[in-house]
Amino acid sequence: MGVQEQYRDYVMTGFVKRVEPVVADHGDGAYLYDADGTEYIDCFAGISVTNAGHHNQQILDAAIAQANKLVHACSYVYHVESVGALAEKLAEITPGTLQKSFFGNGGAEAIEGAFRLAKRYSGKREFLAVESSFHGRSFATLSVTGNSGRKKGGGPYMPGVAFVPTPYCYRCFAETTPDKCDMLCARRVAEVARLHTSADVCAFIAEPVMGEGGIIVPPDDYFKRVKEILDEMDILFIADEVQSGFGRTGKMFAIEHYGVVPDIMTLAKGIADGWPLSAFIAKPEIADAFQIGDHLSTFGGNPVSCAAALANIDFLMDGVVDDAARKGDALMARFRELQKTQPLIGDVRGKGLMVGVELIADPATKAYGTAAAGFVRQYCLDHGVLIGVGGNFGSVLRIQPPLVIDDAQLDSVFATVVDGLEAFAKQ
Ligand SMILES: Cc1ncc(COP(=O)(O)O)c(C=O)c1O
Repeated sequence: MGVQEQYRDYVMTGFVKRVEPVVADHGDGAYLYDADGTEYIDCFAGISVTNAGHHNQQILDAAIAQANKLVHACSYVYHVESVGALAEKLAEITPGTLQKSFFGNGGAEAIEGAFRLAKRYSGKREFLAVESSFHGRSFATLSVTGNSGRKKGGGPYMPGVAFVPTPYCYRCFAETTPDKCDMLCARRVAEVARLHTSADVCAFIAEPVMGEGGIIVPPDDYFKRVKEILDEMDILFIADEVQSGFGRTGKMFAIEHYGVVPDIMTLAKGIADGWPLSAFIAKPEIADAFQIGDHLSTFGGNPVSCAAALANIDFLMDGVVDDAARKGDALMARFRELQKTQPLIGDVRGKGLMVGVELIADPATKAYGTAAAGFVRQYCLDHGVLIGVGGNFGSVLRIQPPLVIDDAQLDSVFATVVDGLEAFAKQ
């Protein structure tokens, strides 16, 4: 039986209608190879995970050296060197006074832990979240996920969650234009906290750049204004950097673009270039609120994953992140130029190599270009480029390659997307 048949008969595939007919066999930098040898430029990086590239030798060497010594001990029962070293490193590279980390295995687990800590520290119970957000597929993380498509059929969800409008300039709910923007989206945070909660809100969670929601970049001053409101109302700010962290946006963490220090930050995906690991990091006075017995994870802080994460950070900080900013700016500039002549493109946005191209069916109404996005994604796959699609209506092309992608590969990606758009328009 081949792997595609094994998947069909034995694997629960509950996310996509159809798992891609690609048998991911091996990778190298920005390339992913099918078992039959077909080469793809991987512009999705395993959903924004392999930021330092596939088969990164520096990271593999660190992981193998650690695996040869110790694979597991339970990092919360015994001291493990790579865990301590990674925690110290995260304190060094994250903004402000974020200092103490708890390690888990995936993004949702990090957020669940962050919630528990926020409740323990504040003594409060409710949460604020953003309407088009995505935070994971566990009970609490789906409860704070605003994107209803992801929640369908899973309710009822956790009570005590109120949603604020998405800071989505292209589809501004207040119908203002960027030049007239008075940040109603930020001000609504105060109103929602006052009017739609029982005044028991412990934390506001938001993605500094929204991934699954369709690469939505909040306005420059959004998080400063929101943080002022939160501080006034004694509400913690949890920055969910699961997707936007580790160089993805051309800075180590996307919140650095906004000059704001969160109280807690959640990390996963790009943290270890594909080794399973997540973390939430908090200011020490908040972290110390955990009491004996509050939190543990059997596999959390796996020694091999932590060794990989340390090597990953060294690799990314050696010029890779800055270069991602340059490459992303250049790619977005090309798409913006194309937008002038390609009516299917409604908006081009992003930071670094977290690039979104929102497609529309009609420039007059900005009707969602869902069909076009699905077509272009398939066209790209058929022509050797893997891209993602996001947004509440699946109308945003997501280009999130390994940060090591080179300029020639990006030229091919751009040319393939252009061809895909033209092929759709000709239909
Ligand atoms: C912003 C954000 N938070 C949390 C998650 C959940 O991470 P995981 O799938 O590792 O649980 C995701 C996954 O896409 C994400 O994009």
